[in-house]
Amino acid sequence: MINIIAAVADNNIIGNQNQLPWTLKEDMARFKSLTIGNIVVMGKNTYNSISHPLKDRTNVIISSTMHDIDGAIVVPNFDIAIQKAKEIAQKENKQIFICGGQCVYQSAIHTADTLYITHVHQKPEGDAYFPKIPDDFVKIESTHLIDTGTNTDFCIYKRR
Ligand SMILES: NC(=O)c1ccc[n+]([C@@H]2O[C@H](COP(=O)([O-])OP(=O)(O)OC[C@H]3O[C@@H](n4cnc5c(N)ncnc54)[C@H](OP(=O)(O)O)[C@@H]3O)[C@@H](O)[C@H]2O)c1
Repeated sequence: MINIIAAVADNNIIGNQNQLPWTLKEDMARFKSLTIGNIVVMGKNTYNSISHPLKDRTNVIISSTMHDIDGAIVVPNFDIAIQKAKEIAQKENKQIFICGGQCVYQSAIHTADTLYITHVHQKPEGDAYFPKIPDDFVKIESTHLIDTGTNTDFCIYKRR
């Protein structure tokens, strides 16, 4: 089972200059509670924007140019990341969460089973986008929340 987790603005922006365009406290807390104890897969730029492996999670970082990161597994491409993550998931009974950014979401959207999307009702400036959600995903859950002053809808989509 491959899960994608992302916060996506109404104009599909997810990032600006390698940072998140917002601060959403509840969303960060939800991200933590869903991913803790599990496997997080992210691209080099997202890793660099966080600047350290995420605590209490198995970190798989995709990069063909970075090699060793203390506390993380570095793999050279998306397919190897998924292969590695699936091996660990099976062995350690963990879930896989694809955590971004744009490049990684684009590669993952066609293989993911579940999407955890926080729709952020803003139209910020940005340079990184979430891909179009394919038509074969159906929304199975939606929760509205005003998070740090911003209207959000946390939605779960499953592939039909
Ligand atoms: N809103 C959200 O939920 C959310 C979540 C995460 C990130 N973001 C935002 O997204 C932005 C970063 O996205 P991004 O697209 O620039 O970077 P990214 O996907 O984090 O990382 C891209 C880099 O990772 C490696 N990589 C990733 N996917 C690959 C693939 N399929 N095949 C081969 N290599 C791959 C490459 O590194 P090498 O050049 O070393 O090979 C590539 O240059 C930031 O603004 C960040 O804040 C938003």
